[in-house]
Amino acid sequence: PHSTSSHGAAPEDQRQSALRRALRLRVVLVAVHFLDSSSGATRIEYYATVGDKMCDLSLVKSGLAYCDVEVGTGVQPPRGELINVHYTARFPDGTLFDSSYKRGRPLTMRIGAGKILRGLEQGISGGGGVPPMLVGGKRKLMIPASLAYGPEPAGCFSGDCNIPGNSTLLYDLFLVGIYK
Ligand SMILES: *[C@@H]1O[C@H](CO)[C@@H](O)[C@H](O)[C@H]1NC(C)=O
Repeated sequence: PHSTSSHGAAPEDQRQSALRRALRLRVVLVAVHFLDSSSGATRIEYYATVGDKMCDLSLVKSGLAYCDVEVGTGVQPPRGELINVHYTARFPDGTLFDSSYKRGRPLTMRIGAGKILRGLEQGISGGGGVPPMLVGGKRKLMIPASLAYGPEPAGCFSGDCNIPGNSTLLYDLFLVGIYK
């Protein structure tokens, strides 16, 4: 008979491997910064995180890893509120798949209402060992697929999918403010 435990590593093993991935990720991000600093202004604006300090990711129980490049000095947006966020979103190899900077304006999203990816929710609103972001804050998130789009491809349009299944997502967030 099959044992259900053959399905996956123990949680502790999973956390260890997520940490190892997080460490590899730091190397990737450093590489991205280096490339950016040697390229043109458009590219710099596009990535928008050039010149940002690095920070050491902390892994929490959910599998989310976060670190603050800059802790905000503003308020903590109340749950259920609309907030404006600038972000870049990358895959672990550094490929950018979405950016509010590219569109030239922050994204307005509602937090605390189950409208956004679970990893973004925890990463912005806090909880489970993550402090909430404050207005003006800049934070990096590494979101495992389980807190993002899961095992199936997502962001599909006419059969082309932007997000492969099981994708870990990297976000650089800037909490611009509460939407007015
Ligand atoms: C995602 O991972 C699961 C579990 O490892 C696997 O069964 C599934 O085929 C993967 N999906 C894709 C699209 O790779």
